[in-house]
Amino acid sequence: MLDKVKELIGDVKAFNASTKEEVEIFRIKYLGGKGLLKELFAEFKNVDAQLKKDLGQALNTLRNAAEGKVTELNASLENNQSQKSFYGDLTRPSEPINLGSRHPISLVKNQIIEVFNKVGFTVSEGPEIEDDWHNFTALNLPSHHPARDMQDTFFIEQDPDILLRTHTSSVQVRYMEENQPPIRTISPGRVFRNEDISARAHCIFHQVEGLYIDTDVSFADLKQTLLYFTKEMFGKSKIRLRPSYFPFTEPSAEVDIYWGLETETDYRITKGTGWLEIMGCGMVDPNVLKNANIDPVKYSGYAFGMGIERIAMLLYQIPDIRMFYENDKRFLEQFKSVI
Ligand code: DAH
Repeated sequence: MLDKVKELIGDVKAFNASTKEEVEIFRIKYLGGKGLLKELFAEFKNVDAQLKKDLGQALNTLRNAAEGKVTELNASLENNQSQKSFYGDLTRPSEPINLGSRHPISLVKNQIIEVFNKVGFTVSEGPEIEDDWHNFTALNLPSHHPARDMQDTFFIEQDPDILLRTHTSSVQVRYMEENQPPIRTISPGRVFRNEDISARAHCIFHQVEGLYIDTDVSFADLKQTLLYFTKEMFGKSKIRLRPSYFPFTEPSAEVDIYWGLETETDYRITKGTGWLEIMGCGMVDPNVLKNANIDPVKYSGYAFGMGIERIAMLLYQIPDIRMFYENDKRFLEQFKSVI
């Protein structure tokens, strides 16, 4: 029996394993409830007294060797494993990359910029916190002019001179102050109005302003540019200009496009007329040119302004303006495929 135990000690010392399962099988074989050591210790009771000392020592050595082996192998396999997870499985297929999407306001803004870039308009920007001069007075809206009420204004800290711009027309004035004609520029940006929030209106929204100043610019030039824009943007080539009033243009007009009456939605959004208003425009009032130090005898020009949200709502059939600002991922993810 002593020889057998010595042989087992040799086996245990020589044992190696490459998985934790192999170590467990080994542990059960030697140290388990019905394992070899249990068996051997049971036999040990019946051994002659003079053999007991050597055999007892050998059995203890065997047990210690088996226990030591299990601890050693488990520890080294654990180490291996943590090394593996550090690098990961390099053959594993990669995780799908979660791509973001552009906000529909940015998409439409970029589209408008692109359309006007093609016919020579550059992009200009101005501050969102404006002074009275650029937002109102220079645009032919002196103080107490009744048309100021057309746009409810947010003032900054009770100072009637500093406000959040109510329209991007303020950038017209800034651009003319800095640049001499010929001028062709569009100015996209955020505007603010003290209005109740509803499905159709918000107190913060976006506009694009357009300005074209040169010698001999006529209303026909304006109309042709608008026609080009509506064709490129909406694929619609029927527009009409309705006489209107803006203090900074004379004459002024509102631009409608013929949207059609093909679907129920067309009926609803055009109120059964087939026509949709998309922007305001007109010939820059000579007073505005004068205010920005441009000679109104030598130069004339046109201007227009449109709301980006309104155009995005039409293009993507978005029923409620508030959806643009809620940042609901389910809404935003629908624009993933649009570049
Ligand atoms: N500023 C106007 C608004 O916010 C829009 C506008 C109308 C801009 C006519 C213009 C224009 O440049 O000529 O309602």
